Amino acid sequence: MRWSDWRRHFEVNRRRPLPEGLERAEEVPAAWRPALAKSLATFQLGEAGEGRIAHEIERARVPGIDADYRAALKLFVAEEGRHGRILGVMVRALGGKLAARNWTERLFVFGRRLLGLRLKLTVLLVAEVVGGAFYGLLASRLPAGGLRRGLEEICEDEQHHLDYHGEFFARQGWGVPLRAAWQVAWWSLALAAMGVVLVDHRRTLRTMGIPLTEATRAFLGLVREAASHLPLFPAGAPVPAERG
Ligand SMILES: [Fe+2]
Ligand SMILES: [Fe+2]
Repeated sequence: MRWSDWRRHFEVNRRRPLPEGLERAEEVPAAWRPALAKSLATFQLGEAGEGRIAHEIERARVPGIDADYRAALKLFVAEEGRHGRILGVMVRALGGKLAARNWTERLFVFGRRLLGLRLKLTVLLVAEVVGGAFYGLLASRLPAGGLRRGLEEICEDEQHHLDYHGEFFARQGWGVPLRAAWQVAWWSLALAAMGVVLVDHRRTLRTMGIPLTEATRAFLGLVREAASHLPLFPAGAPVPAERG
């Protein structure tokens, strides 16, 4: 997809109304609600905090991007904000409280602020994998209804985000050494994040009958999929950078 296509993709998405039935917590077994609300509140924090990068991209000199990429990145940030609103409705409906701060969210924010732009985008890609896997697992267990649909919609967005960030890395024009360095960074960050999420949300997973093996498989599948955007030895010519 060209960056102009991504821009359009996010523009179309922006016009969607919030999914219906997010507040129908009575569809969720009562015993699941406290743990689910707590987990979703943690993820809600993560969805809301990515504003800086959209400003940073204005000044950044990075290969392979153009005005459409920059516009798309702002729309992407807004889409994450929308995820935060969707999750916020669910958390309150489930009888939970929105979280002020959480150690996993602080870790992500700290990581992003510390790093250069490309590493920040790598950390964002980690968030897509973590979000995509976790929302997908929860949706697979929730009974059909508003909350399940809401999570499925977010999950689908995260899949697109994964491809969007993946294409950014594919267009950096990196040779084998940089690709190898990125793969090492990617797997280290992604596996560390996976461990953190599995520990932090173990109660929710257990309550909803999601075995650790299934959760790990879901995470690893997406980690591998994201990594496939930047293979060490790409087949064919590298994707040319677009000029806006
Ligand atoms: Fe999101
Ligand atoms: Fe996302």
